[in-house]
Amino acid sequence: MVKYAHIVGWGKYLPEKVVTNFDIAEIMDTSDEWIRTRTGISHRRFAEEEESTSTMALAAARLALDRARISPIDIDMIIVATITPDYPFPATAALVQDALGATHAAAYDLNAACAGFIYGLSMGSAMIEAGTAKVVVVIGAETLSRILDVEERGTYPLFGDGAGAVVLQAKDTPGGVMSTVLGADGSGGEHLIVPGGGSKTPTTRQTVDEHLHFMRMNGREVYRFATRVMGKAAKEAVEKAGLELDDISLLVPHQANIRIIESARKQMKLGKDKVFTNLDRYGNTSAASIPIAFCEAIEEGRVNTKDKVVMVGFGAGLTWGATVIEWGITMPYQRRQWWYRGLRWLVYRRARIRSMLLRLTRWLEDLIPGEDEYEPLEPKEPANNGTHHPQLTQETPDKPVKETLETDQPPNGK
Ligand code: UT7
Repeated sequence: MVKYAHIVGWGKYLPEKVVTNFDIAEIMDTSDEWIRTRTGISHRRFAEEEESTSTMALAAARLALDRARISPIDIDMIIVATITPDYPFPATAALVQDALGATHAAAYDLNAACAGFIYGLSMGSAMIEAGTAKVVVVIGAETLSRILDVEERGTYPLFGDGAGAVVLQAKDTPGGVMSTVLGADGSGGEHLIVPGGGSKTPTTRQTVDEHLHFMRMNGREVYRFATRVMGKAAKEAVEKAGLELDDISLLVPHQANIRIIESARKQMKLGKDKVFTNLDRYGNTSAASIPIAFCEAIEEGRVNTKDKVVMVGFGAGLTWGATVIEWGITMPYQRRQWWYRGLRWLVYRRARIRSMLLRLTRWLEDLIPGEDEYEPLEPKEPANNGTHHPQLTQETPDKPVKETLETDQPPNGK
C-alpha cells in the first residue's frame, strides 16, 4: 500500500546570544544601515562556546519528537543537513542518535548547504514512500559563526547559528510531502566555499594563516544564481505536486537576503502576506534557515490544516531544492502537559546513562581480553605462485591460491 510522508512534529533551537548589526559595526568597517538595506538582517544568534551543531540539532529534534508524541526508539533514520558538523566525522547525526537514545535508527549527515533541509526532506520522504522507514527525523543545523572570518565584511554580518527539525511519519492518508525538486551546478562551487581543511588543501599552519578554514563568498555571483533558481524551482515543485500557484497558502524560502526572497515572490506572483520571513532576527542560518522559519510560521499560526506550503532553498554547491507539503495537523496545536514533558526528561536521562554504559563496556572490553579478541594471523608460507595473501591462505589452507582462481574460470574461458 502507498505510504505518505507526513510532518507530524517540528522544533527549533536558537542560541541565546544575540549579535546586533551595531555590535558588528564595532568590530569591522560596516554599518547597521548597510546590512539592513542590502540584506534585511538586523540581528542574528551566535552559539555559546559550549554549544555546537549537535547540541542545537538535539534540542530541535527533542522538541519535534515531543510534538509528534513519538519515542526515540521508533525512529528509523536521522538525517542532519549541515555544512558545519561537529567533526569531519563521525557524523553529527550519529551524535544526535546517541543522545536521543534512538537505538533503532540509522544516521547520516547530508551536505547540500542551504538547500540541505530540502534534500533531507526528499531523502526521508522517499524512504517512507518506498516502505523502508516509518519514522524519519530531518534536521537542519548550523554553527556558522565558527567558520566566519571576522576580517571579512562580505560574509561575517550575513550568517547566524541555529537548528530546526521535523519528524516525518508514514501514513496511509494522502498529504505530507507532495513533491520535491532538487538540483546542483558544481561549476559554481568556488563562489561559496571553505577552501581549506579538506583532502584537496589539508590544514597546515599556512592554510590557517591564510584564513582558508573560513567561508569565502562571491556575493554577487551567488545572488545572481539565487534569483535565477528560487522562483523556478518553487514553480516546478508546485507543478509536480499537481497544483496551481493560487493553491499555495505560504512560501517559506531560505532566509538569505530579503531582496532574493522578494524576487522569488514576484516570480511566483504571490502576495506579500503569503511569504514568511524571519531573517531580520536570525540572519542566514544555511541548512537551518528553512526549518527554523517553518517552525516559526507554525508557531505564529500561519500554517493551517490542509494548507499547501512551498519551501525553497539554494546554496553552496551550487545546489537548490524546493518542496510542496500539505499540512495535516489540526491547529491550533495543544501544548504537551507538564507530566508528559517530565516523562520525556526521564527518557533522555536514560539515553544518557545508556550511552555512558556503552562507553564503559568498551573500556572494560579493552582491559579484559575476551574470546573475540583480535589476534594477528599467523604468517604462512608463500603460495606456490609466489603471491602471499594471508587471508585467502588462512580460509583455504589446503588450496593454493592459483588453483582457486582457475576453478573460477568459465568452462571455455581463456
Ligand atoms: O545561503 C546562500 C548564501 N549567500 C547568499 O545568499 C548571498 C547572496 N548575495 C547577497 O546577498 C548580496 O550579494 C550581498 C548581501 C552579499 C552583497 O550585497 P550587494 O548589493 O550584492 O553588494 P556588493 O557585493 O555589490 O557590494 C556593494 C558594495 C561594495 O563596495 P564597492 O565595491 O561598491 O565600493 C562592497 O565592498 O558594498 C561593499 N560592502 C559592504 N559595505 C559595508 C560589502 N560588504 C559590506 C558590508 N558593509 N558588510
